[in-house]
Amino acid sequence: MNDTLFLKALRCENRSRPPIWIMRQAGRYMPKYRAIREKFSFLEMCHQPEIAAKVTLLPIEEFGFDAAILFSDILVIPEALKVGLRFEEGKGPIIERPLKSDSDIDALLTLQIESGLNYVAEAIRIARRDLKVPLIGFCGAPFTVASYMIEGGSSRDLKKTKQWMLRNPSSFHRLLEKIAECTITYLEMQVKAGVNALQIFDSWAITLAHSQFLEFSLRYLKKIIDAMRQFNVPIILFCRGSSVFAEQLASLSPCGIGLDWQVDITRLRSKIPKTVALQGNLDPDILYADSQVIRREAKAILNGMRQDPGFIFNLGHGIHPDTPMDSVKALVDCIKASSAL
Ligand code: CP3
Repeated sequence: MNDTLFLKALRCENRSRPPIWIMRQAGRYMPKYRAIREKFSFLEMCHQPEIAAKVTLLPIEEFGFDAAILFSDILVIPEALKVGLRFEEGKGPIIERPLKSDSDIDALLTLQIESGLNYVAEAIRIARRDLKVPLIGFCGAPFTVASYMIEGGSSRDLKKTKQWMLRNPSSFHRLLEKIAECTITYLEMQVKAGVNALQIFDSWAITLAHSQFLEFSLRYLKKIIDAMRQFNVPIILFCRGSSVFAEQLASLSPCGIGLDWQVDITRLRSKIPKTVALQGNLDPDILYADSQVIRREAKAILNGMRQDPGFIFNLGHGIHPDTPMDSVKALVDCIKASSAL
């Protein structure tokens, strides 16, 4: 595994074409996913290791991506903490008992993390058996996970979360601390089950002011990265907002940083140490364009990052469910045809 393009790029040692995988690659844009999804709810698919492992492999079999990402969700941690989780068509995730006060934080059952998430370890073991490419495990950043637990679902402005954060920072820190501890236990479990790399998703960091990001997000990303160092597993940090926070993320010395599509990746490269890999950052909407435009835009990124031994091609966020399969194929073919450095 160590010799694969993806893991070499994460060590900034890749001398061949860049590896490619895409966020949400195991998802609804694939007819084979939708066929399985017709028979099971999303959470049932996550909970059944055989199904989760099978879905993890689907995009590898279909497109030949250079890495697989485990089929699961960042919200399985709140679910294991017993706040109640369901997904509603068109609405996304719903937390049935959102946190409202300090005492709700104390009541969270942190002891259940390992037994409650054992099915994830089992899915990893099954997927690992059949995979020929590295497997990426993942989790949400404590700030992003906390925001779902407080908002009770998806929200555009995170009003309740930011009100809590600003009015009662010490109890907000207590919540972040608790989630960070659970996350470390959870990631350790993923590593022991066989993942080859980890990605931490901070999807809602984009709502934070710079100083808020340092205090309420970066501090806990650091806690997780520091705790995981003993396991020697490469970690990628992805934020929506990483184009603004990239230098702060790099200060934690992760193996890689995943970039949103707002930034010129080539210009950002000069600000990030050469020992940190960069991953990204095609606008997912580009995949709605025709294949000529897709190739042109992908090549613009490829050319800018030419001869960079620490570059991984990805989108700047998850692929949209209504993306044409042909667009994905055109993108993967274009990256795979790009010449060695
Ligand atoms: O990337 C992959 O293919 C691996 C699996 C994966 C999923 N979610 C599967 C999923 C990963 C890595 C995630 C991460 C995730 N989940 C994030 C962070 C990344 C990001 O997108 O910002 C967040 C915020 C979530 C929470 C979540 N899960 C939301 C808000 C939703 C509903 C919105 C939507 O896209 O429908 C989900 C559902 C979800 N997670 C689906 C999948 C394949 C769709 C489920 C379905 O079939 O209905």
